[in-house]
Amino acid sequence: MCGLPLVSHPNLIVGLEQADDAGVYKLTEELAIIQTIDFFTPIVDDPRTFGQIAVANALSDVYAMGGKPLTAMNVVCFPIKTMDISVLREILIGGLEKMREAEVVLVGGHSVEDQELKYGLSVTGIIHPGRVVTKSGARPGDKLILTKPLGTGIINTALKGGLAAKETVDRVVRYMAALNSTASELMQEVGVHACTDITGFGLLGHAGEMAENSAVGMKIYSASVPVFARTVEFATMGLIPGGTHRNKQFRSKTVEFAGGLPDYLEDILFDPQTSGGLLISLGAAQAESLLARLHQAGTAEASVVGEVVDHPKGKIIVK
Ligand code: CO
Ligand code: CO
Ligand code: CO
Repeated sequence: MCGLPLVSHPNLIVGLEQADDAGVYKLTEELAIIQTIDFFTPIVDDPRTFGQIAVANALSDVYAMGGKPLTAMNVVCFPIKTMDISVLREILIGGLEKMREAEVVLVGGHSVEDQELKYGLSVTGIIHPGRVVTKSGARPGDKLILTKPLGTGIINTALKGGLAAKETVDRVVRYMAALNSTASELMQEVGVHACTDITGFGLLGHAGEMAENSAVGMKIYSASVPVFARTVEFATMGLIPGGTHRNKQFRSKTVEFAGGLPDYLEDILFDPQTSGGLLISLGAAQAESLLARLHQAGTAEASVVGEVVDHPKGKIIVK
């Protein structure tokens, strides 16, 4: 990372050398801690809802590793000179509500004055050292399951432009605030090879990392990828967030789109997600079982969106 002289340690199971969703450090043969930090600027107007989404997003990296978050610390940047402190109070209440739902205990925090409001968490979780799920375990023959629909970036852009109706936005907000805990527990139950959560790089950006780290190829079936209502319509109108272009550029050499696919598809598959779902790589039989359990647990849109192939390694073909 940035050419830093990285330190290795015998107890460090997942560090910065192969960037993953969180760091993992072995304490004993039975127990490892997972550590991660995430904070960002508001993506919705309502402070309490923003607090909930920020916490769901920060905890997601622990769930992506297959772990259980235990404790957290608030990270706050607040423009105290220009913004009423009651806004911060509402954000923190929303955050606490989400932590309570996740059975995570808030143990502290730190705030600094900043011109721009930001909120998130530093999180510590636990996992058995032998059960750590990384991005690098995907195997040829695996199926890929995505647990939440795509389109939060596009819908947010439409919202800013005054084009998204309240019910469209409310639905997306509910998903952004939804924990990835159930999907994480269920994938561990059925047996999983690799996992990551879909955030700023979009589905293809994060899938690309998994393909690279696992030294495998992937096929994504665009028709099977779940998207929020009206996402296609807004994407066709050109309501594309700035991050999409960077995401596309970064992956231009490793993602190939089959001929005849509509242009908007690329914008959706590279759409930067806020607190998106998990992308789970697992054997075909396990995938069938996981999908049934996810649907039973109310994760209605979870779908098999692709498969892992032997080659070309590190590349994704979208059909
Ligand atoms: Co992540
Ligand atoms: Co993250
Ligand atoms: Co301090």
